[in-house]
Amino acid sequence: MAVSEHIASEQVVAARERYVARGVATTPLVVARAEGARLWDVDGREYIDFAGGLGCQNTGHGFAAAAIHEQVDRYLHQCFMVGIYEPYVEVCRLLDETWPGDTETKSLLLNSGAEAIENAVKIARTATGRTGVVVFDHAFHGRTSLTMAMTAKVVPYKQGFGPFPGEVYRAAAPYPYRGVSSDDALVALSHLFKQDVDPASVACVVLEPVQGEGGFIPMPEDFPRRLKEVCEQHGILYVDDEVQAGVGRTGPVWAIEHYGVEPDLLVSGKSLGGGLPLAAVTGPAEVLDSVPTGGLGGTFGGNPVACAAAAAVLEEVRTDGFRARAEEIGKRIRTRLEDFVAQSHLVGEARGLGPMLALELTEPTPDLAKAITTAARERGLVLLSCGIYGNVIRILVPLTIDDALLERGLDLLEESLGDARAG
Ligand SMILES: Cc1ncc(COP(=O)(O)O)c(C=O)c1O
Repeated sequence: MAVSEHIASEQVVAARERYVARGVATTPLVVARAEGARLWDVDGREYIDFAGGLGCQNTGHGFAAAAIHEQVDRYLHQCFMVGIYEPYVEVCRLLDETWPGDTETKSLLLNSGAEAIENAVKIARTATGRTGVVVFDHAFHGRTSLTMAMTAKVVPYKQGFGPFPGEVYRAAAPYPYRGVSSDDALVALSHLFKQDVDPASVACVVLEPVQGEGGFIPMPEDFPRRLKEVCEQHGILYVDDEVQAGVGRTGPVWAIEHYGVEPDLLVSGKSLGGGLPLAAVTGPAEVLDSVPTGGLGGTFGGNPVACAAAAAVLEEVRTDGFRARAEEIGKRIRTRLEDFVAQSHLVGEARGLGPMLALELTEPTPDLAKAITTAARERGLVLLSCGIYGNVIRILVPLTIDDALLERGLDLLEESLGDARAG
């Protein structure tokens, strides 16, 4: 496309450079409109969206618009601490109904995944009377002070931002493609308990069932169950971080359902609000209620409009139809990704859970992945990378995409792999 055809985008990018902090990483894409799994930029160019606003559109752009409009006309904000409102209570009820176990649960609603993880730690500390937090290699739990300490990537998330809060301990996580098994990770955890922290002073472990920013690494089938057994042995709470892997992204509502493990706390976010900021901490009533009245809350947490959207999203992702379609999409993507692995020695592994899938490139550097995502954008596909080494191409496509658009997006991905290899 000739430079002159990008005029509107260029003007916004120039203004962004003038007025917006450099620390927020951006691409040159300037969005004008979005619908389902498609985006249009301000110059009228159409894109297939394999990013979903960074995993926030499992039900597709615009899915919750009607529920949102209806709530906007009633009231926008009350603050749940000032006046109770039904959409907040309804989301907590739906989180209880979708809880991966039989326990009676309660929930707390927040604005972001990081805020929810911080609150899960507060709750775990109060419930156990302990302070330690165990996290894992390749973890991403957010960018606030405590969650930065819990996140496992220095550049760009931690460099220059210390000092970090104490009482956060990191253990190895299984990563079969790079040679770390469940057995290795559990041995490393037992060493951690010998060398660094008394398990009797650990409040919780926090683990993503599919590590997201860290490289789309699904936990091996046995690991969550064996980790839960270790937790039970020591009175440690198991916090399941479903911010990226939850709300239908892997097929069932919660990714932990693949493993048959009932967590002690489940943290959700991203797609929960259907595009509005909402996150939650859910867990057994006695665990949530260990915090005295007034200890939890916030001005905007559980905003009524975000809750109206979330209620519509939760009703949708728990249907058999949504799950069946998600699984079908997962099979289609996996078949194509496995072909890409077979076709090129630069592509090392296709992996994931259900339709939460990615390609890890063999070289542990970000260059080729960057070239692929750039080529994809130029071809009309919005695509993201991830991973400690930035060498994983991940797919977070809205799970409402039709077959033709999905296959077209996968064709564009294949062409972009070709462009990047040639370049
Ligand atoms: C697994 C996980 N936990 C927590 C977070 C933090 O969520 P937020 O960016 O909404 O603070 C993220 C964000 O990517 C995430 O992927």
